[in-house]
Amino acid sequence: MALPSKVRIVDVGPRDGLQNEKQPVPTATKIELIRRLGAAGLKTIEATAFVSPKWVPQMADNAEVLKAIEKLPDVAYPVLTPNMKGFEAALAAGAKEVAVFGAASEAFSQKNINCSIAESLERFRPIVEAAKAADVRVRGYVSCVLGCPYDGRVLPSAVADVAQALFEMGCYEVSLGDTIGSGTPEAVKDMVDAVAKRGVPLKKIAGHFHDTYGMAAANIYAALQNGVSVFDSSVAGLGGCPYAAGASGNVATEDVVWLLNGLGIDSGIDLDALVDTGAWISRELGREPVSRVARAILAKRAAACA
Ligand code: HMG
Ligand code: MG
Repeated sequence: MALPSKVRIVDVGPRDGLQNEKQPVPTATKIELIRRLGAAGLKTIEATAFVSPKWVPQMADNAEVLKAIEKLPDVAYPVLTPNMKGFEAALAAGAKEVAVFGAASEAFSQKNINCSIAESLERFRPIVEAAKAADVRVRGYVSCVLGCPYDGRVLPSAVADVAQALFEMGCYEVSLGDTIGSGTPEAVKDMVDAVAKRGVPLKKIAGHFHDTYGMAAANIYAALQNGVSVFDSSVAGLGGCPYAAGASGNVATEDVVWLLNGLGIDSGIDLDALVDTGAWISRELGREPVSRVARAILAKRAAACA
């Protein structure tokens, strides 16, 4: 299949990237990160999560963040909502887009959201209905699409079951999450094929690759070849899931933009501004950017100044 000429990147850094940080990240830093990502050209920025603060303390300032961020007119700022309580709080804070998140593995569903897959889908249905009534868009996630930290192997048909249910329920896009980053390209192709064969159009599928095993760029390339044109990533490669021990961050947005630029695919993102944003948030968190692309560009800049 021909590669797409355009790709939309969803930067999940402020949510997936920061949710697992042990040190409290100041609310003002989160707000500034979102502002910088918008200025770098991101059109979808996952801002925060309306989840239980007992489960994920780092997202406790969700309403404050969502209310305070500067909202650019052509940028979407989705937030995670696991249940009606989260949805109502998100709506009250001004959310125009939310995301429900399920899993293709029973054990991960229990660990992450404290219910079975079937129960999760029943929880999501009223959210999607209430969102429709409030003119709020809903994105759907499926976790553990290429492996589960508790159950091991996950079948493509199990991923397709949940993706199809989310799409038929009314999610405008289904993001397929390699939560533990263990997937490889041929497995990506089989899994995307299985989802597409169940009637989820390729244009409605997003790839969400964590880079734990360093396979994310190869997996994105495989997904692109299979017709996927939306990818989630995290500036500076921030992140990890609190309920997937050992899982590292999302693929770095800088790495995805470098890959797309090399393929001649337009993402609308200014790589230099993105690298600056990644360097800034990494400094705020007291570490180096994980992105190899960012490191190479920063080293080249430093050499040019020396
Ligand atoms: P629960 O304990 O079963 O909830 O948690 P409950 O309904 O029994 O309520 C227990 C208490 O939590 C009550 O308070 C509720 O009010 C409160 P209490 O009466 O004890 O004081 N509560 C809430 N508070 C704030 N916001 C809410 C909320 N709901 C209940 N929305 C629940 C169930 C789903 C809430 C919990 O398991 C949870 O918050 N889980 C979220 C875990 C999470 O955020 N994980 C990371 C995001 S997913 C991810 O990273 C994967 C992804 O990136 C894709 C990939 O990589 O694969 C998306
Ligand atoms: Mg994730």
